Amino acid sequence: MKKLSFLFVFFLLIKPLWADEGMWLPFLLKQLNEADMKARGMKISAEDIYSINKSSLKDAIVSFGGFCTGEMISDQGLLLTNHHCGYGQVQTHSTVEKDYLTNGFWAMNRAEELPNAGLFVRFIVRMEDVTTQVLKDIPTQLPENERQSAINSRIAEITKKAIEGTHYEATIRPFFYGNEYYMFVTETFTDVRLVGAPPSSIGKFGGDTDNWMWTRHTGDFALFRVYAGVDGKPAPYSPLNVPYRPKHFLPISLKGVKMDDFTMVFGFPGRTTEYLPSQAVDLLINETNPHRIKIRDLKLRILDKEMKASDAVRIQYAAKYASTANSWKKWIGESKGLKKFKGLEKKKIVEAEFANWVEADPNRKVQYGSLLAEFEAVYQKQRSVNLSRIYIDEAVQGIEFMRLASRLSGFGTKPIDKNDPKIVDFRKWTKDFFKDFNFQTDQKVFAGLMKLYFENTKAENLPASLKEKHAQMKGDWDEIADSFYSQTLMSSEEAIQQILDDYSENNIDRLLHDPVFALFKEIQAYDQAKIAPVMKETNDKIDGLMRTYLRALREMQTKRKFYPDANSTLRVSFGQVKNYTPKDGVQYLHYTTLDGIMEKEDPENEDFVVPTKLKELYASKDYGQYGVKDMMPVCFTASNHTTGGNSGSPVINAEGHLIGTNFDRNWEGTMSDVMYDPDMCRNIAVDIRYTLFIIDKFAGAGHLVKEMKIVR
Ligand code: ARG
Ligand code: ASP
Repeated sequence: MKKLSFLFVFFLLIKPLWADEGMWLPFLLKQLNEADMKARGMKISAEDIYSINKSSLKDAIVSFGGFCTGEMISDQGLLLTNHHCGYGQVQTHSTVEKDYLTNGFWAMNRAEELPNAGLFVRFIVRMEDVTTQVLKDIPTQLPENERQSAINSRIAEITKKAIEGTHYEATIRPFFYGNEYYMFVTETFTDVRLVGAPPSSIGKFGGDTDNWMWTRHTGDFALFRVYAGVDGKPAPYSPLNVPYRPKHFLPISLKGVKMDDFTMVFGFPGRTTEYLPSQAVDLLINETNPHRIKIRDLKLRILDKEMKASDAVRIQYAAKYASTANSWKKWIGESKGLKKFKGLEKKKIVEAEFANWVEADPNRKVQYGSLLAEFEAVYQKQRSVNLSRIYIDEAVQGIEFMRLASRLSGFGTKPIDKNDPKIVDFRKWTKDFFKDFNFQTDQKVFAGLMKLYFENTKAENLPASLKEKHAQMKGDWDEIADSFYSQTLMSSEEAIQQILDDYSENNIDRLLHDPVFALFKEIQAYDQAKIAPVMKETNDKIDGLMRTYLRALREMQTKRKFYPDANSTLRVSFGQVKNYTPKDGVQYLHYTTLDGIMEKEDPENEDFVVPTKLKELYASKDYGQYGVKDMMPVCFTASNHTTGGNSGSPVINAEGHLIGTNFDRNWEGTMSDVMYDPDMCRNIAVDIRYTLFIIDKFAGAGHLVKEMKIVR
């Protein structure tokens, strides 16, 4: 009876693993997924997606700056990504007078395209399973750090050989927690110019209010162009460079999307943790997320007030605000989802099943018998420092001066020549830092976040200087912040440059007596003595346990197809255009239209301002070839499994044509980084027809559409 009810609960909670879940390796599609993909409607072959013998879809996909994805959409190196991915670049080129964030930017010819120092795009030349070479002769029982260093030297040899005589780079990354290793040979271009970006009232329409939510009406796209040397190879920025001719670029389909159409997302998902044990999920939803959310809550309130009070601060902090708010909101959705859909309970059920499976076989008992208990012990230990870690990372490091101090402290306490590359580099970093820095704003952030740090750290672990000031000033945090900020010598770019000009004993000594710098050093010392070592030790231990756990799970669930967690390597997710039911009695459509933009319009709320030109186009229904009669599609949802880093990824149809640009997920589904649910998890894309409509009809940049290959 007991067994029966256990089984019953089991089937209720664990749905069959749908094909929608998973982020697959392009070079393994043929073997693992092609049949599934075809069954779902795909017309092209795995070889069309990834091939080393001919050009394939993968040749059109790039990692955009290492944090987003982009795709080639013309034979002239034209690149499509999200507005929020190019946001930093648009912001860098913006000033109060030339405000591209507010007004948009469109290069009407090649000469007007804007170079971006520091930005790169990376193509994948090929990938390969190198597990055997990497792990050959490495004993399974080696301590984690010895294992890692043995593997690292192996990796160095293999990658060196792989790129000999080429201008490529190669990296080898662990998969399934180091059960497997794959190599990626890449080609990196650094001359990437801004071509076009809509005004934020289109590219960020809905702002942080609509972020992570459906229904959505954001034209979240931006255009760049990749330039190469005249030989077609990567070259640093030069006016003599020419548009890069990619091996493949995506044709664009104007056919649109219907429910259940096959879709594929091709890009660089950053990080997921789908195989965590229950203890980790428990820690995440009951401690880590709630505290991170609380800290950012406060920071955002402070920044918001400051930005509303000054246009200069608004521009300086726009990108920083957006990225702080983005994770904050995701964590809220993730925690809600994991609770509502019983993430913790499901993990426990799998673990119970695992324990039974181990128990059933003496051999397994030897290999895996202690695994679950070891997880329990190591997470217990990690729990003892988890909160301190969070408050240092989120509250202390959330203060810009603390990050500046952290960078400065990296130079150590020995004099360094002013021409040392480290100093030269840092000089540039400092310039960027102060361009977007406001002293008063940061002082307010300090007052708020230091208070939280103070209140959530055991007294014995608090820096003496902070306790002293706190007592002296009777806990008045504005006063405490002022006492630090009014006496610091880190207050301006000039002051820092002066120290860098002469990083001598004298200046180092001044720095060590600086109240802000000294405070940071105290916190750092405590971190290094008490927190970091425990974190390192437990994380190493967890890595080793996870490797064993994954190996065991794969032995246990023989029918299940396993995909490795996202790790910023190129992946394919496939699914279908799908709507969803967020709660009882409510069903969403799978697409939105321009009508919804007009419904949401609110001139009083900056998130919902609609540009005049867009209203005119709406009134006259002037949608050109992009609308469907008098309807202009804007966004759509599908069931592709995606995560951070997939932004800017192409959404591709059954024929291999571009139909949208991925940019977000639904709030009810942000738990997909830990647990994907096929009924609830959706990715959100801008319909390519809306993107082209904005480029052509709104911005008058139809010359860009002429470069593309349009399929009707
Ligand atoms: N939530 C999306 C992602 O994680 C989009 C973020 C940008 N949009 C915004 N309104 N902040 O990156
Ligand atoms: N918006 C995310 C990104 O920037 C995508 C996601 O998390 O769904 O990559």
